[in-house]
Amino acid sequence: MERRPTTIKYKAEVKVLKFNVNTDDRGSLIAIEKNKDVPFDIKRVYFIFDTKPNMERGKHAHKVLQQMLVCLNGRCKVRVDDGKVKESFLLDTPNIGLYINGLIWREMYDFSPDCVLMVLADSQYSEEDYIRNYASFIKLADRRHYEQ
Ligand code: TYD
Repeated sequence: MERRPTTIKYKAEVKVLKFNVNTDDRGSLIAIEKNKDVPFDIKRVYFIFDTKPNMERGKHAHKVLQQMLVCLNGRCKVRVDDGKVKESFLLDTPNIGLYINGLIWREMYDFSPDCVLMVLADSQYSEEDYIRNYASFIKLADRRHYEQ
């Protein structure tokens, strides 16, 4: 079988971003602006909430999507994996964003019942961009590490 050449140069980046909190006598407010507080143009927002006990979500990677995860209420953990190194982050405050760019396997777990996890994304939902099989992810991640 012939293999089609690909021009995609995969990225894989994870960063914790800290937001400015505007606190006064009334309470607190956080603003997230594109290309300022989040390093991309926001095209989609979704929320994960009412997660049942011991449920895990995610368990996939994206080819090129950029996302930022912000825990608006409660707490949860996010495990990220670039194919070589796995790292876990606790998200339990709305003033932190976990920025995930590209070829990173992610798993969300340990949700508190009151957890509201907001996800900002740089493109609309596209099943094409998903890698749902861990072995396929490792193959692409190996290629990325090799090409670096
Ligand atoms: P899924 O990808 O399983 O969520 P998670 O990454 O948290 O495990 O998505 C659950 C359902 O929601 C699935 O039917 C696809 C749909 N969905 C959308 O319609 N739009 C979206 O932006 C997302 C992320 C999911």
